[in-house]
Amino acid sequence: MAELLNGNRVRDQIKAELAPRIAALAARGRQPGLAVVLVGRNPASEIYVRNKIKACADLGIYSETITPPESVTTDELLAVVGELNGRAGIDGILVQLPLPPQVDAKRILLAIAPEKDADGIHPYNVGCLVAGLPAPRACTPAGILELLARYRIPVAGKRAVVVGRSDIVGKPVAFLLLHANATVTICHSKTPDLAGICRQADILVAAMGRPASITGDFIQPGATVIDVGTNHIADRALVARIFRDSAEKLAAFDKRGSLLVGDVHPLDVAERAGAYSPVPGGVGPLTIAMLMVNTVAAAERRAGLSRDC
Ligand code: GUN
Repeated sequence: MAELLNGNRVRDQIKAELAPRIAALAARGRQPGLAVVLVGRNPASEIYVRNKIKACADLGIYSETITPPESVTTDELLAVVGELNGRAGIDGILVQLPLPPQVDAKRILLAIAPEKDADGIHPYNVGCLVAGLPAPRACTPAGILELLARYRIPVAGKRAVVVGRSDIVGKPVAFLLLHANATVTICHSKTPDLAGICRQADILVAAMGRPASITGDFIQPGATVIDVGTNHIADRALVARIFRDSAEKLAAFDKRGSLLVGDVHPLDVAERAGAYSPVPGGVGPLTIAMLMVNTVAAAERRAGLSRDC
């Protein structure tokens, strides 16, 4: 039976380690501050942001949410970011993605002061990642490396396959694995023989946004599988097919009208992997924990306490 990589447990460890750092800042009269910009009424984004704000409250980090309407323009959002860049009490800024189509998302992300980029996805910080320089790292990728490290899963010399090439997950996690001395392959929707390449992986990271599509034939027996998918399934027949008519899962679906499923087939992975991160309860909680780490580290830098990132 595969070992379960428990993201909630690692999240709690990371938060416990942050507490004394936040106390040390408080002793200097500084409270870390995070601003979250949430445009419009995307239900998934609203849940993510609520969880981020709750994590701040748990730790004693100041937070505020700015909620421009769905109709906001690029210039209006640039003004919001500019104000936050200049505000002394704000150490970290996060603009929740996706943004509405009329907004130039790349311009908005470029406008965030790199030292306040709590998400670690500003092009300056991405450049630092590629060059191996200290800077805030993208939260989900950093969380994945924490999960591997804390479960003592070796990375150096291993073959890692990343499925998905997004700026938030696929590209940065590939570089973090490379810096940890894995041999890394990045795959995507146009990759021929995806299953064959995935089967070579000692560490397989699934981040392409297709529910339960990494099935048993993609998984080398004994591999470590990291599932980054967060797919909300609203089709009961699909839930029945994925979970092979599990009464428990269908009851959960009937109660909520949808079910959260990762990119990895949940039953296949339990049978074939050596270790895997489940959905929910795997990578998700770590993304928020690393956002807290980035915010506290930014506050420490601004307070003159020496922290690289
Ligand atoms: N939307 C989904 N995940 C993320 C994330 O990690 N950061 C931001 N800014 N938006 C997201």
